[in-house]
Amino acid sequence: MDIPSLRNDTPGCAFHNHLNNAGASLPPLPVIEAIKGYLEEESLHGGYEMAAAHAQDTAGFYNAAAKLLNAKPHNIAFAGSATDAYFRALSSIPFEAGDVLLTTDDDYVSNQVAFINLQKRFKIKLLRAEKLPEGGVDPQSMKELMDEFCPKLVAVAHVPTNSGLMQDVETIGTLCTERDIWYMVDACQSAGQMPLDVAKIGCDFLSVTMRKWLRGPRGAGFLFVSDLALGAEYETIFPDSKGGAWNSPDSYLLEPTAIRYEQWEKNFALVLGSKAAIEYALALGLENIEPIVNELAVYTREQLSNLDGVRILDRGRRLCGIVTAHFDGKTPEQITKALKGANINAGIGTTINAHIDFTEKGVDWALRISPHYFNTKEEIDAAISVLRQIA
Ligand SMILES: Cc1ncc(COP(=O)(O)O)c(C=O)c1O
Repeated sequence: MDIPSLRNDTPGCAFHNHLNNAGASLPPLPVIEAIKGYLEEESLHGGYEMAAAHAQDTAGFYNAAAKLLNAKPHNIAFAGSATDAYFRALSSIPFEAGDVLLTTDDDYVSNQVAFINLQKRFKIKLLRAEKLPEGGVDPQSMKELMDEFCPKLVAVAHVPTNSGLMQDVETIGTLCTERDIWYMVDACQSAGQMPLDVAKIGCDFLSVTMRKWLRGPRGAGFLFVSDLALGAEYETIFPDSKGGAWNSPDSYLLEPTAIRYEQWEKNFALVLGSKAAIEYALALGLENIEPIVNELAVYTREQLSNLDGVRILDRGRRLCGIVTAHFDGKTPEQITKALKGANINAGIGTTINAHIDFTEKGVDWALRISPHYFNTKEEIDAAISVLRQIA
């Protein structure tokens, strides 16, 4: 990969050492131009008129998202965020009192809150599988809980927000397929940093955000819905006129594709910005992106672990581009202030984002460094030198 030219293509690289790609990445020029261009046209010619004129372009978003996941365009729904996509999918599972939802300790905070809400509202039973000694959910524990409790839904975040862990979503997918259990994967932190294949994962639903590793706009995400779930006539709790055609006073016809999970109103500039971002990632090749991200993350962990009083928190058989560390006796404010002073962007996670994980690790906050392929070792060295002074 020609990193200097990719950095030239990323205006933000001229301003910051941006190591917060798990928060929100810096978009490349084609994404910025797609959004700006569309907004300008819309302002001059009218929103409905421009949506009609760009119908072909908009269709390209579904093609690109499908290609990214090895799916078909009819399996894709645009959404306002990963959480929006996830909640639409979750609301389509017809839970009844006593149904079991099986998940992990490391699933995303908002998803956990939604599960607890379902528990309150529908009296479902929420189970979390055991972890492996080296970190990450134990597929054997998942299997045993599936066999004992026959869950209605298994929900797993591929990569959590709070550590570099990669869950074994494919093995869990096979277990779900063998037992005809609905399977929902949160790929918010994996999409854009590694290849994803919904056929290999074997999931029925998969949610993605655009602003992180895919380098797309904020306020955009998408959902994959399997043919099985579409065929079962699953639908989000409130389809609007896009998802359901009102064909008699008391009925509506459900849209046959995953579009039934969308709403009629959307920001078309963001749809086109998302298309540009996915096409950019596809042109580089996810198989080329993943090893660069991994190499930078491994380097970051090595350098951080050499600092006094710094503990690397990432645990699991396979790790990815998120690096988390705790600095004994220091505060997150000290770290943020020092990094900001050196023009370095990184993230801080707290227990509220990772209640179970951080409690088990005995920390209440962690620094999160998440380098992308356009970052350099020199940028990581610059961050380490600031952090060394604090440590
Ligand atoms: C693992 C994971 N899932 C879901 C989300 C939510 O994504 P969004 O903010 O696009 O809804 C995040 C955001 O950080 C995340 O890290």
